[in-house]
Amino acid sequence: MKAIVATDQAAEAAGITLAERPAPTPAINDVGVDVHASGFVPAEWEWPSTWVDRSGHDRAPAIIGHEFAGVVSSLGYGTTGFSLGQRVFGITDRHRDGTLAEHTAVEARNLAPLPGNVDFTVGASLPISGLTAWQGLFQHGRLQAGQSVLAHGAAGAVGSIVTLARPRVRCLRHRYRAGGGPRRGGTLVSVVGPAESRPVDDLAIDFVVESVPSQLVEIVDRVRDGRLRAHIGTVTTLDNGVPALNPTERRKGKTVIRVRP
Ligand SMILES: NC(=O)c1ccc[n+]([C@@H]2O[C@H](COP(=O)([O-])OP(=O)(O)OC[C@H]3O[C@@H](n4cnc5c(N)ncnc54)[C@H](OP(=O)(O)O)[C@@H]3O)[C@@H](O)[C@H]2O)c1
Repeated sequence: MKAIVATDQAAEAAGITLAERPAPTPAINDVGVDVHASGFVPAEWEWPSTWVDRSGHDRAPAIIGHEFAGVVSSLGYGTTGFSLGQRVFGITDRHRDGTLAEHTAVEARNLAPLPGNVDFTVGASLPISGLTAWQGLFQHGRLQAGQSVLAHGAAGAVGSIVTLARPRVRCLRHRYRAGGGPRRGGTLVSVVGPAESRPVDDLAIDFVVESVPSQLVEIVDRVRDGRLRAHIGTVTTLDNGVPALNPTERRKGKTVIRVRP
């Protein structure tokens, strides 16, 4: 099958290439999926999991992309909860081959059903960005009605979904300024690693997004009824994906690779 792989850690984005790779076989409790569309986080080559598996073994060339929407094409031994032909979306394990490929294998516990009226491109744009925003706001930020949110990098894929907080809270969008943290008593939630300065008496949290299918259902419900709009930028094919994933110009919205028309 065709896939986009990362080959050389030092080369970062310049080292990704379109390659021919064996299609994955779903393992116990896995779901095999025909990928229709795949999203992508622009820093995947910086993740240790792109280069080594959970046992520390070299993974290169690793198929990148870990959020997707597609159709169930096979079930692993003992897998329950999904059926052949079902539309699904979700996040795959970062330590396994990913979703910028014609097929992927994903643990059933990481999948959610994709409603029939939500396009695969939209579905693929939501899992990592949507769950990161959701977990940052509600799980780690413990956001409550009446509070305000200041989102740095709000034009990006994660930042644009911070509008999830509406209408319960006021959203302020902002680029980062040195010292631009919370006022006394606020909570600083970082998705880019530990904050360099942690104001005294403030709570500072950094976290890595987890796959929580029940939250995906909440997020896609908001897209269906118009409370949330997916912020999609470039959409292109797997064949033309490599330059789109390593653009020379500023990204506007989530880059989505449409694997099947
Ligand atoms: N912790 C996690 O689990 C997790 C999950 C997903 C993503 N992330 C990380 O979150 C970050 C954003 O991801 P994304 O998918 O939203 O990327 P993205 O779509 O490329 O958006 C990046 C945004 O950051 C802004 N930006 C760039 N440099 C900045 C700076 N110095 N100060 C403030 N804003 C700046 C950009 O603004 P301009 O458009 O003006 O350049 C853009 O709006 C990445 O670092 C990614 O690795 C972490």
